[in-house]
Amino acid sequence: MPKRAVVFDAYGTLFDVGAATRRAAAAPGRERLAEHEGELSRLWREKQIGYSWWRAVTGDYASFWQVTRDALDHALAATGLDGDAALRDALLTLYWELAAYPEVPAVLAALRAADRRTAILSNGSPDMLAAAVEAAGLADTLDHVLSVDEVGTFKPDPRVYAMVEHHLGQPPAEVLFVSANGWDAAAAAGYGFPTLWVNRAGAPRERLPHAPSHEAPDLTAVPGLAAA
Ligand code: LAC
Repeated sequence: MPKRAVVFDAYGTLFDVGAATRRAAAAPGRERLAEHEGELSRLWREKQIGYSWWRAVTGDYASFWQVTRDALDHALAATGLDGDAALRDALLTLYWELAAYPEVPAVLAALRAADRRTAILSNGSPDMLAAAVEAAGLADTLDHVLSVDEVGTFKPDPRVYAMVEHHLGQPPAEVLFVSANGWDAAAAAGYGFPTLWVNRAGAPRERLPHAPSHEAPDLTAVPGLAAA
């Protein structure tokens, strides 16, 4: 069997989706944001995922950047933070350059040293992903950055997971799929990937079919699992 490849979800898995609101709230004069930061961050993410599902089900596809902006606008309105164009711009700019989680560079470097192929498979639009990969300095340790934009829908549509074999030329059983989103890990497991759910928040397991084969609090287990 060829060496197992490793495919990562992007947002929440490699890139810290809470970093945009956190960094914006730390700037001077942002006391109101600081007060609502947790709620804004949670709602922004929830709506982003929810809107992507709605668009996948209805077939009304729009890029993830559009979905991300729509979700932010809803979250700003819901928390009473709407009407501040400078704040909206700042949050969107920060989302473009989200920090990677601290263990990410070493994990990707270890996979590279072990001669494993690596990829991102994400709902993110190609330009968002390129900017995030660049800002986090990860370009040299990723072989492919795959966006759902190519198939015009969102996870968990199986056409998205099919992109892995199409681009990497390896069937699901030869690929470790890694996601911090429980619903994404469940769908990937259902598709046939050995799957690691990175449960950073210690969340209860999703009540969905297809449990992931592995669970860990961060990505440090990935090189070992890829070698297994
Ligand atoms: C992604 C979202 C689901 O990167 O986190 O695909």
